[in-house]
Amino acid sequence: MPPGFISPYGVRGLNSSTMTYFLLNNEPIHTDLPSGMTVLDFVRYHKMMTGTKCGCREGDCGACTVLIGELDSKGGITYRSMTSCLTPLANVQGRHVVTVEGINPPGKGALSPVQKALVDESGTQCGFCTVGFVVSLTGFCLKPAPSTQEQAIAAIDGNICRCTGYKSIERATLRLVDLLKERQEETPVDFAIRQGIVPANFAAVPAQLKAWQQPAADAEKKATGLMIGGGTDLYVQRHDTMVHAPARHLFNQPRLRGIYDTGDFIEISGAATVSDLLESPHLQAIFPDLHKHLKLVSSTPIRNMATIAGNLVNASPIGDLTVWLLALDARIVLANGQKRELPLRDFYLGYKSLNKTADEVLELIRFRKPEGEYQFNFEKVSKRTHLDIATVNSAALLRMQNGLITEAHVSTGGVAPIPLYLKKTSAFLIGKPFSGKPDLNDPVFAEAADILQSEISPISDVRGSATYKRLLAKQLFLAHFTHQR
Ligand SMILES: Cc1cc2nc3c(=O)[nH]c(=O)nc-3n(C[C@H](O)[C@H](O)[C@H](O)COP(=O)(O)OP(=O)(O)OC[C@H]3O[C@@H](n4cnc5c(N)ncnc54)[C@H](O)[C@@H]3O)c2cc1C
Ligand code: FES
Ligand code: FES
Repeated sequence: MPPGFISPYGVRGLNSSTMTYFLLNNEPIHTDLPSGMTVLDFVRYHKMMTGTKCGCREGDCGACTVLIGELDSKGGITYRSMTSCLTPLANVQGRHVVTVEGINPPGKGALSPVQKALVDESGTQCGFCTVGFVVSLTGFCLKPAPSTQEQAIAAIDGNICRCTGYKSIERATLRLVDLLKERQEETPVDFAIRQGIVPANFAAVPAQLKAWQQPAADAEKKATGLMIGGGTDLYVQRHDTMVHAPARHLFNQPRLRGIYDTGDFIEISGAATVSDLLESPHLQAIFPDLHKHLKLVSSTPIRNMATIAGNLVNASPIGDLTVWLLALDARIVLANGQKRELPLRDFYLGYKSLNKTADEVLELIRFRKPEGEYQFNFEKVSKRTHLDIATVNSAALLRMQNGLITEAHVSTGGVAPIPLYLKKTSAFLIGKPFSGKPDLNDPVFAEAADILQSEISPISDVRGSATYKRLLAKQLFLAHFTHQR
């Protein structure tokens, strides 16, 4: 790009006191363009790499999907798909950004095995979505084993195609699963290089990224302004102003990453993502249905970006993770030099009004590990199963002893201006009988449902009438007692 180049998507040097550096395919990038500029705008309008497409700019279509590689604790690299339209440059600091140009084999008309599988199975027509599918499926091929077709299809749950039809794309995924069966002792990256899924330069990437780790951690200390996690709410809500907004980027801060089992408690750092939750052995050990529940949250690329703190602070009345954590009776730690801790249920004061000052970072979420006999359930009703926000959602933790409920925490979203902890309903359940096969005609359930109705105040909107939401809230509550694993 010529010096002084100005594009409508970001002015060089404006509001960026630090350089952003990352590896774009095989090219080291050091740029003083605004760190709030999206990766999509950088690659398309500053690098003129137009393979990555711009569709919705809202994280919904997947046409802009890129892979972001990050060093893992073993010195290797983990690649995750992200929607570049919502990803600020700051969030790829010190990482490997892979666009379709970085995986195309050299030579006119040459295709990688992923591209070939899509072509051979007639998985593309107009081609607008195809790059996103290619990138997402390349990311699937870089994941550690096992590699099942279910996982391959899950890898493209954030990619929408409006003209081909998904059956042919599904057939292409089957070819890739067959190819990955040949993988033996090699790392996923080594295998992918050998098969031509990615080029040979991927082998040197971990060493290149290691050199950039320390400065990335320093950047937060200097920053002031709007806190940004994954950007999946902010870049949808305020897209036009984000590029130049004074910002404090938290996504890349090692101190805000990680999920820990401290013995009695689980601690989740604020910038842990939904994918981090899904992959956490600590959470998997406690919640057998973790996968089923969290797969209802957005799509793979958004889960790779969406942070837990972002979900809580966004304060949407239907935030899925908020409702999930309310039912765990979680507490949060806020910090602005000094730290304070409060129950999550006391965080919400009114619609989008929080018990939080503008300079407080949500650093940690903590909840007591459920022990003994317990069950935890999350339910969500939305207009479509994936990539949709809830009409009503609900979660419940029930602990039992000798056939009686000894502890209960029930939450629900979409039925009040804030995500609700159902204090009276939860209290009512304590001491009530609990059996694996409950009789929903039992008057206890009718009484509990009546108490629940007294705690909610839904309004009619595009997602449903108030009457419908009341019905949903009741049915989801009852589902906590009848759900099958
Ligand atoms: C396509 C799409 C689908 C989605 N589907 C769902 C869904 O199914 N369920 C659901 O619940 N949500 C969904 N969302 C919403 C969003 O992904 C989540 O709310 C996400 O968790 C927000 O996290 P973030 O890090 O991206 O937030 P950001 O956009 O970075 O920030 C959101 C808010 O949190 C603040 N913030 C961020 N981190 C901190 C911190 N550590 N301390 C203090 N303040 C902070 C920001 O200042 C901002 O006010 C979807 C979004 C998109 C684009
Ligand atoms: S352009 Fe549609 S998800 Fe990014
Ligand atoms: S091939 Fe046209 S949108 Fe998918």
